[in-house]
Amino acid sequence: MSDELIVPLDELWGDELVPCTVAGDAVFLVRFGDEVRAYRDKCPHQGVPLSEGHLAGCVLTCRAHHHTFDLRSGRGENPAGVALVRYPVRIADGRVFVSRPPPATEATR
Ligand code: FES
Repeated sequence: MSDELIVPLDELWGDELVPCTVAGDAVFLVRFGDEVRAYRDKCPHQGVPLSEGHLAGCVLTCRAHHHTFDLRSGRGENPAGVALVRYPVRIADGRVFVSRPPPATEATR
């Protein structure tokens, strides 16, 4: 059994946060044109699911305490100096493949 999540690209819309599971991890997907990002669905502040936040352009606002994150880079805007855990994404043949990040990245979770 593969630990990779596979989603048809045309099932992802540009203005929504899509919660899913990758190898048992809660993750959310977001699409920007032909690009897709995947991040751990857990706010670095107190762990609230980020997929329940508000998306405006590429800026996600956590519903709990309104911290903001740029979803193109995964970096915090307010506060700065934090980063979301990003999951590798590749797109091929109209499908999106999401896998777990390498262990070095997971150590920062
Ligand atoms: S849990 Fe997200 S800002 Fe506090």
